Amino acid sequence: MEALKAKWDERYRARQPGEADPAWVLREYAHLLPAGGAALDLACGLGDNAIYLARRGLRVTAWDISPVAIGKLAEYAAREGLAIDAAVRDVEAEPPPPLRFDVIVVSHFLHRPGLPALAAALRPSGLLYYQTWTVHKRLDGPGPSDPRFLLRPNELLRAFCHLRLLAYREEGRCGDTTRGVRDIAALVAQREEALP
Ligand SMILES: C[S@@+](CC[C@H](N)C(=O)[O-])C[C@H]1O[C@@H](n2cnc3c(N)ncnc32)[C@H](O)[C@@H]1O
Repeated sequence: MEALKAKWDERYRARQPGEADPAWVLREYAHLLPAGGAALDLACGLGDNAIYLARRGLRVTAWDISPVAIGKLAEYAAREGLAIDAAVRDVEAEPPPPLRFDVIVVSHFLHRPGLPALAAALRPSGLLYYQTWTVHKRLDGPGPSDPRFLLRPNELLRAFCHLRLLAYREEGRCGDTTRGVRDIAALVAQREEALP
């Protein structure tokens, strides 16, 4: 775990929060977001998703294993007056607790044993936004090549099939691969409302 932390710290030393776009799935389906509530950006890196959510009025918790990324995000949030609680946390060892968040965003991170805890951490009507690379990604593009970190076809769908599906995109290598949303699978799903 120390080697992993050092690897990510090194990458984040040269970069700043607010430089990159939030995840495609979050921008594309932003109209589904609630106006307020508690959100989690899991494995947030420099927190592009967290910043986006906080600017839209959500109170955001942001967790990552990299102290460099979390330090930069916390400073940025304080400077910009954003409601982001950024903390160093190994989310594999400490997944989110049940029934805690109205929105959870995960982009470009995959820890399969932790997927059930993500669904359980949603409050009733809570939304999960998930986007990460698939086994069909371009080999020379960004993202890992180790299949442990790449989604199999339909894997996100299956993992969250007990949630209500709002949006799903996975185009693989079908047709004209210079067009469309490639390299990733993306899902937005909602926990059922509490029944009266
Ligand atoms: C590819 S980056 C994605 C960052 C951000 N979500 C994004 O889309 O730009 C993967 C992130 O996962 C974090 N990470 C890896 N293992 C982790 C763990 N066990 N707990 C928390 N964060 C972890 C890394 O530090 C890194 O910031």
